[in-house]
Amino acid sequence: MNIWVIMGTRPEAIKMAPVVRALEEISDKVQVTVCLTAQHRELLDQVIRSFNLPVHYDLNLMTPGQTLVEITSRVLERLSHLFSEKKPSTVLVHGDTTTTLSAGFASYYQQIPIGHVEAGLRTYDKYHPFPEEMNRRLVDALSDFLYAPTEQAKKNLLAEHIEEEKILVTGNTGIDALLYIAEKPYRFEDALLERLGTERRLIVLTAHRRESFGSPMEEIFQAVADLVDKNDDIEVLFPVHPNPNVVASVKKYLQDKERVYLIPPLEYVPFVHLLKKCYLILTDSGGIQEEAPSLGKPVLVLRDVTERPEAVQAGTALLVGPHYERILDTAQKLLDDKDMYQDMANKSNPYGDGKAGKRIAGHLYKELSK
Ligand code: UD1
Ligand code: UDP
Repeated sequence: MNIWVIMGTRPEAIKMAPVVRALEEISDKVQVTVCLTAQHRELLDQVIRSFNLPVHYDLNLMTPGQTLVEITSRVLERLSHLFSEKKPSTVLVHGDTTTTLSAGFASYYQQIPIGHVEAGLRTYDKYHPFPEEMNRRLVDALSDFLYAPTEQAKKNLLAEHIEEEKILVTGNTGIDALLYIAEKPYRFEDALLERLGTERRLIVLTAHRRESFGSPMEEIFQAVADLVDKNDDIEVLFPVHPNPNVVASVKKYLQDKERVYLIPPLEYVPFVHLLKKCYLILTDSGGIQEEAPSLGKPVLVLRDVTERPEAVQAGTALLVGPHYERILDTAQKLLDDKDMYQDMANKSNPYGDGKAGKRIAGHLYKELSK
């Protein structure tokens, strides 16, 4: 029984790490093969190092400024050859990236069963997020085992007439990784990271969505710049995503700004510990929307729609879009209004109990043994 785990980008590796570990725990019964497309190079390598993951194949496919067509076709072609030669028993993909979709197609064309981790997330808006919404819908349609992180995700799949027996609600594997890292004591090696959040209120910012490139992203950065000008007791940490479109806008609005710290993408472990000590998170990331409520941090989601409605319903996340006024006003309220802040910060974790990886490994073994 040879289970292949495919990873292309940072979030896939973080969220597949607990699955790999759980499969390794039953290594007397299954063999696990980790295959990197390396759609991301540096960001992926950081995670592989942090979790000390085994790597059996590395296709090394990233090129700077890659287009969707380029990376989609390269992953499809290279994985198709590899699957046809090595014949995995099943292929596990994660989430909604180009790697996810292309690996799904490559498996389907070889008639290899597909397991989709983090199945069933939907915004029902095909351009938000782009192209992730269509990637996950298409992969769900191709998949044989659908690992839904929440009951809501399962409902979405059932509404699309996906057979119930193919679906298992597992919790999000990202929470397995988060809880494991967050509960360990940690000291930052870097003096700036150690100091941040101790003298002023720390805001962590991330932004990288394709549909926000250009003016929406510039509105976000202008709002952050003005928020910092208005409040001398706050500071902002922004680990800048290496996508050239993000870097260009950041330079225009936030470069050399006092109390705004632009740093390269952080290793996962220090990043989690920074989230733990921040006051507020501003992000358009999918994964960070799940991590924030698990750490009791309010999050302003820099998008108009989200495929992760659970935290919004629980009241720990607010959708502010990439809109200057809404970002500035809402963030200011959360800085000024202690009651509003406490309401949002009240710990609630709608996304998992830290055992999702084990559930997936156990289920897959049972299914493949039939
Ligand atoms: C991808 C995913 C997105 C996910 C994000 C996580 C797609 C279509 N998008 O977006 O769903 O939220 O990853 O971060 O799959 N780059 C580097 N080094 C790296 C990574 C990226 O230099 O380690 C630069 C390169 O110039 C690369 C560009 O960023 O060409 C874009 O990378 P790509 O994977 O195509 O898209 P992301 O915007 O990172
Ligand atoms: N993350 C990290 N270092 C950073 C920023 C984010 O390790 O500097 C982690 C974060 O904790 C989360 C994941 O990366 O687990 C989210 O990745 P990203 O926002 O790139 O992608 P998305 O989740 O939006 O697909």
